[in-house]
Amino acid sequence: MISQKEYTKRRRKFAKKLPAGSIALFLSALPKERSNDTEYPYRQNSNFYYLSGFKEDNAALLFVKTDKACKSYLFVQKKEPAMELWTGKRLGVEAAKELFDVDDVFSFEELRKQLTAFGNGIQSFYYDFKEDEGRIAPLKQELKNLRSCHNAAEIVARARLIKSAAEIKLIKKALAITKEAHHRAMQCSKELSYEYELQAELEYVFKKNGAYSDAYTSIVACANAANTLHYISNDNRLLKKELILIDAGCEYEYYASDITRTIPVSGKFTKAQKELYSLVLDVNKAIIEMIRPGILRSELQEKSEELLCRGMVKLGILHGNVSELLEAKAHKKYYPHGIGHWMGLDVHDECPYKDEKGKEIPLQAGMVLTIEPGIYIDQDDKSVPKKYRSIGIRIEDDILVTKKGFENLSFDIVKEIKEIES
Ligand code: GLY
Ligand code: MN
Ligand code: MN
Repeated sequence: MISQKEYTKRRRKFAKKLPAGSIALFLSALPKERSNDTEYPYRQNSNFYYLSGFKEDNAALLFVKTDKACKSYLFVQKKEPAMELWTGKRLGVEAAKELFDVDDVFSFEELRKQLTAFGNGIQSFYYDFKEDEGRIAPLKQELKNLRSCHNAAEIVARARLIKSAAEIKLIKKALAITKEAHHRAMQCSKELSYEYELQAELEYVFKKNGAYSDAYTSIVACANAANTLHYISNDNRLLKKELILIDAGCEYEYYASDITRTIPVSGKFTKAQKELYSLVLDVNKAIIEMIRPGILRSELQEKSEELLCRGMVKLGILHGNVSELLEAKAHKKYYPHGIGHWMGLDVHDECPYKDEKGKEIPLQAGMVLTIEPGIYIDQDDKSVPKKYRSIGIRIEDDILVTKKGFENLSFDIVKEIKEIES
């Protein structure tokens, strides 16, 4: 759990970045319709949640900074028994005042009115530029002296780069559940017939352990399907002699996990599968070993490209001089994606890769990123030895940067060939 004290600290840190004479507004996520009269399960906006810890819909967090002080106000849905009968209990204004350490709590309906009241003398308006303009435009009208708008999300995104001890604990909890799910998949793949059955086994473990949801739609891709990077239909047969790429991770108390394992359906790798798998595994481990404060993600990217390219030449997938192949980006055909990304409240955590001056941000203790090298060989690629075609392999771990180097948060999700086979 994230304590109220920590939310207060986050708001203070955010408030410090605001100039006097400004207002910052964060809105709760909008519910999303799935089809007529049915909605997707509600998921709070990550930035709003990061600063408030409030999970309900129709809510807002407002910062008002004058040259004297910065105050924060929460807006929540008021109690309404007739509506609560349908959509569940609401906390309401009075209880929110007790629970949340803000200067005051108002009903969400009062947002415009309060903006008018606070807006006097306010020149700068900070809000998330990803927000729908239709929601923001009427609010802007309440700020009569408004001169400039700024992206509040950028400030939060920088703060979200460094995870607190409590956040790391939640990521570890998400990973403990995800570990159980992947291990279950390894145990039961040979008894199942379709990818979606395996998906069900993974997601059963997520739900059974109190994870709110998957952190992203699970990818369960057998054989050539693994060569579609965002394959989510998961409706192919599990073919006995093939591999399955499983990219699945749960979200626990709003924090993501993001794990890929590639396993043989039958439980045993063939010789060709082993050759490719060992290459990706060696690269996964070599890149993780490089992680320490000060190193750049682009250095990890470059090294992963070099190692994979070199390995592919050895296996006869690429032909020629490694430096020239790298220069020509020939390896990109088989390793087209990045080595990894920030992870936290969002699986692709909305944090910057560059500082305010446009310079790449080096890794620092407290950052969490994925390391996920892969090789993807299409079934129709005649330039590659036949034994490697239809194979797609990715091995993805979640890594915490520490003062001394790194902690592999997913170290105990098995990935060695022998461990997977047993
Ligand atoms: N599961 C999404 C990713 O690996 O980036
Ligand atoms: Mn990832
Ligand atoms: Mn992934």
